[in-house]
Amino acid sequence: MTPLGADPGIDPARRRDPPTNDSKSETTVTNTQKFTRPLVLAAAAALALPSAMAQAPGKLKVGLMLPATGTFAVIGTAVENGFKLYVAEQGGKLGGREVEFVKVDDESDPSKAVDNVNKLIKRDNVDVLVGSVHSGVAMAMAKSAKDSGTLLIVPNAGADAVTGPMCAVNIFRSSFSNWQPGYAMGQAMAAKGHKTAVTITWKYAAGDEMARGFKEAFEKAGGKVTKELNLPFPNVEFQALLTEIAAAKPDAVFSFFAGGGAVKFVKDYAGAGLKKNIPLYGTGFLTDGTLEAQGADADGVMTTLHYADALNTPRDTAFRLAYVKSYKQQPDVYAVQGYDAAQMLGIGLAAVKGDVGKKAEFAAAVRKATIDSPRGKFTISKSHNPVQDMYLRQVSGKENKVVGVASKALEDPGRGCRM
Ligand code: PHB
Repeated sequence: MTPLGADPGIDPARRRDPPTNDSKSETTVTNTQKFTRPLVLAAAAALALPSAMAQAPGKLKVGLMLPATGTFAVIGTAVENGFKLYVAEQGGKLGGREVEFVKVDDESDPSKAVDNVNKLIKRDNVDVLVGSVHSGVAMAMAKSAKDSGTLLIVPNAGADAVTGPMCAVNIFRSSFSNWQPGYAMGQAMAAKGHKTAVTITWKYAAGDEMARGFKEAFEKAGGKVTKELNLPFPNVEFQALLTEIAAAKPDAVFSFFAGGGAVKFVKDYAGAGLKKNIPLYGTGFLTDGTLEAQGADADGVMTTLHYADALNTPRDTAFRLAYVKSYKQQPDVYAVQGYDAAQMLGIGLAAVKGDVGKKAEFAAAVRKATIDSPRGKFTISKSHNPVQDMYLRQVSGKENKVVGVASKALEDPGRGCRM
């Protein structure tokens, strides 16, 4: 494994109170407040406040659009926790502005995404959008962000289009493109000597694109995908498809499921007696944040992802300690992505002194930065997606242990991005 960059870690003196998901720490702006706020500000000015105070930048309003219900609810919580941990480490401020949060539960439902994102942009006037987990929801957010010019940082959803045809100067991703972990697994499974594979995923952008990335690398290396199986999101009736896998007898299976669906799939795969004859692989979402519930059925499963447990770098160790202290549970890849979304926002805002309107300068700062992530250092591509190492991991007990690097500094091709 390639050693990762070291970091002095978190200075405890800069820590504030632990962040929480408590709604007391958040502001939900109502229409009444929106209309009365200018009057209040005018009255304050009339009282002849010292000019420096009168001009102090207002709070930075961050619109968190994440799932709080449904199969991805735990993922939304981890992203939010990670984001808030970084903000707390900065004393509650980014780019010199105090951060406040407005939240919307997007339910991982693309059909409600336009309404939800418009609430944040038009009703709440957020300065920054952060979201979401589901690729279909994130694509709707990217369209609204592009149309309105609102800054967007995607802390999970891998929809290739977000940093492909939909790319824009004000849209960034702190996580991955769906192509990345799929492609890395195609390389890794071919290197293991597998010649045939069946893919099984949910039928929507994330599943389609991870399977496509997998197939591209696996077939380039001489393998053959013999069957592409899928079921609608968020269905978990796997039995008929598992019977098809048993009949097809591939060398191995590549899969994408996440959250509650991943727990059930891994358990059903073992329960159907397939695990010992046809090795199960997947993108790392299959086993991240799910191992407690999957138990021994996940043991030995190999996945590719830009994070792993037991990286044992000073940076990751400090992050994990701080996370456990605040939330009384271990972090996962989603927490890291939330944390790094806040880091990227902080880097951009520092360069523009908190002025989110300076989009070109904000983007220039993020593009030239090296993000000091718990996953290892990474940079941002021209299309605003992380360029990062993809680890090969194997489940051992309750951990996704690093076995090696499946693909070093893997860059999404950014197909269709014109910026
Ligand atoms: C996605 O929809 O892009 C997605 C959702 C959950 C994951 C990974 C990707 O764990």
